[in-house]
Amino acid sequence: MEYRGYDSAGIGIDGDSPSDPYILFKEVGKVSALRKHVDIGIPTPAPGNEANALTSPIDMKKVFVSQTSMAHTRWATHGVPCTLNCHPHVSDPMTEFTVVHNGIITNFKELKLVLQKRGYVFRTDTDTECVAMLCKYVYESQPNKRLNFQTLIKTVLKELEGSFAFVFKSVHFPDEIVAARRGSPLLIGVKSERKLKVDFVDVELQDDKIAVPEVGDANGLLAVPANGNAPAGSNLRRQQSRAFLSEDGMPQPIEFYVASDPAAIIEHTKKVLYLEDDDIAHIADGQLHIHRLRRDDGLSSVRAIETLEIELAEIMKGQYAHFMQKEIYEQPESVVNTMRGRVNFDNNTVTLGGLKAYLPVIRRGRRLLFVACGTSYHSCIAARPVFEELTEIPVAVELASDFLDRRTPVFRDDVAIFVSQSGETADTILAMRYCLERGALCLGVVNVVGSTLSRETHSGIHINAGPEIGVASTKAYTSQYIALIMMAVQLASDSMSKAGRRAEIIAGLHDIPGQIKTILTMDKEIQQLATSFAKQNSLLIMGRGYQFATCLEGALKIKELCYMHSEGILAGELKHGPLALVDENLPIIFIMTKDSLYPKVQSALQQVIARNGKPIVFITEGEEAPADVKTVVVPKTTDCLQGLLNVIPLQLLSYHIAVQRGVDVDFPRNLAKSVTTE
Ligand code: G6P
Repeated sequence: MEYRGYDSAGIGIDGDSPSDPYILFKEVGKVSALRKHVDIGIPTPAPGNEANALTSPIDMKKVFVSQTSMAHTRWATHGVPCTLNCHPHVSDPMTEFTVVHNGIITNFKELKLVLQKRGYVFRTDTDTECVAMLCKYVYESQPNKRLNFQTLIKTVLKELEGSFAFVFKSVHFPDEIVAARRGSPLLIGVKSERKLKVDFVDVELQDDKIAVPEVGDANGLLAVPANGNAPAGSNLRRQQSRAFLSEDGMPQPIEFYVASDPAAIIEHTKKVLYLEDDDIAHIADGQLHIHRLRRDDGLSSVRAIETLEIELAEIMKGQYAHFMQKEIYEQPESVVNTMRGRVNFDNNTVTLGGLKAYLPVIRRGRRLLFVACGTSYHSCIAARPVFEELTEIPVAVELASDFLDRRTPVFRDDVAIFVSQSGETADTILAMRYCLERGALCLGVVNVVGSTLSRETHSGIHINAGPEIGVASTKAYTSQYIALIMMAVQLASDSMSKAGRRAEIIAGLHDIPGQIKTILTMDKEIQQLATSFAKQNSLLIMGRGYQFATCLEGALKIKELCYMHSEGILAGELKHGPLALVDENLPIIFIMTKDSLYPKVQSALQQVIARNGKPIVFITEGEEAPADVKTVVVPKTTDCLQGLLNVIPLQLLSYHIAVQRGVDVDFPRNLAKSVTTE
C-alpha cells in the first residue's frame, strides 16, 4: 500500500505458539525505513512491555510454522505519527489480540471510558487501540472461552460506530484471521495452484441465526451470555466453501491475502473478491468463510471472485523519476482509454453504456448536482459550462464537505453525480449516501473499479485512466474531464439543434491525444520556466470562463507539490480584490488561450500590466503574443476542451518546481492519496 499517503508503517508476525513472542516492527516514515528496521532485527516492544524489550537481534533465519502475519501503513488521524501510535495495535503487553485498521471509530472515547473503568490501560492516542482491547474484554468476559474467533469479532463490531476495514489476529486463535469492513474498502486475494471450482464464495447467512451477544447492561457495557458459552451451533465445523475445492471436489492448498487495494496483492494473485459493508471474513484452516454482521439486508448471498485485469507494471514507475511524472506522460494514452469504445468519431456519437438506460431520467431531472473534492471538484467546474450549454438543465457544483455541512436540500428529481478518482473519498461517499436516502438518481464518475462509490451509485462511468499513484492527481483529472464532456454530449444526443456543437466537440476530442503529446515536447521549456518560480513564495494563476477550472487546478498542484502559496483567480473578480496584490514582484500566470471570452481576458491582462505586473501568458498557437510578456504557446482546440490542454503545462510546471525545491513529489507532506476519513 506504499503508494498511498502514509506517515508510519508496522508489521506483526505470529510466533509458533502462545509462548513465543508476537513479533512487532514499527517505524515512523517510509516503508523503506521499516524494512531497515526489520533488517536490523530488533523488534519493537508492545506498548507496556518496554521493560522486556529485546536488545539483540532475533534469529531472522528461523522458519515459523505460523501462517499469518499482517502489516499496515498509517496516515495519522488520532495521535501524531510515532511508533506507539503505529499499527498493528495490541490489546495488552502480551499481545493477546492484534488489529490493523483503516478508518475512524467515532465512539472510541465512550468505549475507552468503559474499558478504563474495567481496569484496561490505554497507551496510545489512537482510536484503534480500544478495538484491540474490546476483543480482549469480550474474550475474558466469557468464562468458558468458547466463542469462536469470528463470533467474538462480531460481538466487538456491533459495538463500533464509524468506518473501518480491520484485520484481527489473536494468540488464542493461532493461524486464524478475521477481516471485516464497514465504509472502508477491503478485499481478499485468493491464490491456488489449481483452478477454483466456482468463481464465487457463499455468504454463510445461516450463521446469523446464532444469537450473538448484544450490548447489554445499564452502563452500555457489553453483555456476554452469563454462562459464557457460544450459542448452540457456533462450534459446528462448516463445510468448505465450494470455490476452494478443486474440480475433483477435493480441498486444495490455498493462500489468502487481505488488503484494502488490489495494488497490494497483484504480485501474488489476480483473483480477488471484494467484501461488502458488514461482511466478516474468517480465514482458518486454509478456508475462507464469509459471514454477515446482520441479516437485515437484501445483499447477494455470494461474493464473486473476480480476475483483475491490471498488471503490476502498470503500478510501477518504469523509466520515470516519479509516479507523477509517469502519470503526466501517460495522458496521451489515458485519455484514449477513457474514450475507447465510447466515442464514435465516424458518426459523431457517444455511448456510455452505464448511462444509456438512465438518459430519459437524467434529461427530466430538475438539476444536475455535481459533488466532489480536490482535483475531482475542479473537473466538475471545468465541465459545468458545457453541461449548461448542451443540456440546459441547471447545474450545481458542490464540494462534498460543504454540501454535507449545509445539509443541502436534495429532491427525488435531482440527478447527483459524484466524481472521484479513488471512489473512496469519505466526504464524497457520505454525500452520495445522503443523496441516495433522499431518492435522487446517483451516478459515479470513478477511476477505481470496485470502489465504494462505483458499487453504491445507481450507475456511472469508469474513467479508465489506470492506477494513479502520485498523490497529486494528474491523469485522473484529464480523464474525468473527458468523461464528463462525453456525458454532456450523450445527454444532448436527442437535440437536433446541438448536432453541430456535438460534432465540433467530438472532432476536438479526436485530436486531443496528439495535442497532449505536442505539449509534452515542451517539457524542457517548462522546466526552465520552473527555475524562475522555484524561489518564489507565491504564484497567482488567472483566467476566466472555461479556464477558471484550469486556474484552480494549476494552483492546487502548486500548493500540494511545491509547498508554496498559490491561488486560482477568476479574472472577472480581479477588480474586486486580487488586483491589490499586483506589483512588479508578484509571480502571475495568465491563461489567455483564445475563446469567446478572449476580449475580456485581454482587458484583465492590461489591468495587470498597468500595475507593473509581469505575468507569464498562456496563448494559443497562431495567436499574436501580447507585447513584452513571456508566453507559453499551447495548441488550439475547441473552447470547452481547451482546459484539457492548458492544464498540462501547469502539471509539468508544478512537478518541476517541486523537484527543484526538493519535495518528495509522489508523497507530499501531510497529504494522502485517498482521504478515507471525514
Ligand atoms: C485527496 C488527493 C487529491 C484528490 C482528492 C479527491 O485530497 O490528494 O489529489 O483530488 O483527495 O480524491 P478522489 O479520489 O475523490 O478524486
